[in-house]
Amino acid sequence: MNGYRCFACSATQAADFVGFVCPRCGGNLDITYDYAAVAEKLADGFGHSRTDLFRYAPLLPVKETGTPFPLRVGGTPLYAAPRLGQLLGLNNLYLKDDTVNPSASTKDRAGAVTLRRAMDIGADVVSVASTGNAGSSLACLAAALGLRAVVFVPEDAPAAKLTQSLSFGATVFAVRGSYDDAFDLCLKASDEFSWFNRSTGYNPFTREGKKSCAYEIWESLGGRAPDRIVVPTGDGNLLSGIWKGWCDLREVGLVDRVPKIDCVQSDASAAICLAARRIRDAGEIDPDWSTVAVDAVKASTVADSISVDQPRDGLAAVRGILESGGETVMLPDEQILAAIPEMARTTGIFAEPAAAAPWAAVQQLVHDDKIDADELVVCLVSGSGLKDVANVQKTVAAPVTIDPTVEAIMNAGLLP
Ligand SMILES: Cc1ncc(COP(=O)(O)O)c(C=O)c1O
Ligand SMILES: [Zn+2]
Repeated sequence: MNGYRCFACSATQAADFVGFVCPRCGGNLDITYDYAAVAEKLADGFGHSRTDLFRYAPLLPVKETGTPFPLRVGGTPLYAAPRLGQLLGLNNLYLKDDTVNPSASTKDRAGAVTLRRAMDIGADVVSVASTGNAGSSLACLAAALGLRAVVFVPEDAPAAKLTQSLSFGATVFAVRGSYDDAFDLCLKASDEFSWFNRSTGYNPFTREGKKSCAYEIWESLGGRAPDRIVVPTGDGNLLSGIWKGWCDLREVGLVDRVPKIDCVQSDASAAICLAARRIRDAGEIDPDWSTVAVDAVKASTVADSISVDQPRDGLAAVRGILESGGETVMLPDEQILAAIPEMARTTGIFAEPAAAAPWAAVQQLVHDDKIDADELVVCLVSGSGLKDVANVQKTVAAPVTIDPTVEAIMNAGLLP
């Protein structure tokens, strides 16, 4: 790591800068690297001593301590999904299963890197605003590291996500209001009490954790880029992270192209898709990013993880979509929910609504003739179905209750 660059105005900061946003314009910061030095370090590859995301240490902004991270974050499987792909005539469909992270979502990637950063600078209380997953992730990883976590969530966050955070011993504030209200309060409280604020988008280290997902896909594919990766998007930090990961690999000479990064949002929480479309429709190829606004919407979707009024990493995400040539897909809740059992039944992977949205988006893109049958497509499955059983339950019939007899089984008319 050799400094920071503002996504909006391009102002740079030195590596010892300790703020989170651009001091000139308030924009989000991108962490920069001396890519030539990293490329030299990587001449023999990443090495194989670790299975978690810290195996990519030369491209991560953390001190190399030699002490392993106490939980295995990242190193998740990339599964071929031929039976799911066949439903749409796709021959090369893959699922990146990030539900197997310690707290069961992709958020652990951001948590691991931000907490290592917090420890590098001597912080012992860490805070986060969350729709639910970032909070349960922070609580989980802080418990493993012996740090104290403070979590701000909207009061209607799914019970499983809240229960995880509480079980891990975090202080949990269920804020009367939306995720955006929780976000603003976390900012104020973290300033007031000098907590290390891990909130998505605001803290530049979250993107650095999420980008490890791109490195892993690259490795799982034997050192190649797929044609496209479909990313469920709320704040846009996951998308900007995955885009950044591929840009890093290109900068150090490990790939020659960046895949298309497709953005999927609920049509009732689509600030990033709308902004990207606006710029693309205006034919702006290289806009002046300091003048681009990602306008807030009034979000309301069953996919709580991607329910966001004002995206906190919107500009970087819009850049990632446009510069990679990705698509924007806005879907109604019914399509998102229907994707959950379809994916579960053909792959054995159980997703929460946001995490099933990429498969719903692929259906839409095939319908719109935007994906060829032989394209190598990766859907990011970013969180487990166990995170939000109440909503997932809406997609399946109730079990049939029977007397404990074989006759009752026959009478139920359900024999496979
Ligand atoms: C399961 C899941 N998928 C996708 C996202 C979207 O990430 P971002 O808000 O960075 O766009 C989140 C964020 O909470 C999430 O928890
Ligand atoms: Zn700036």
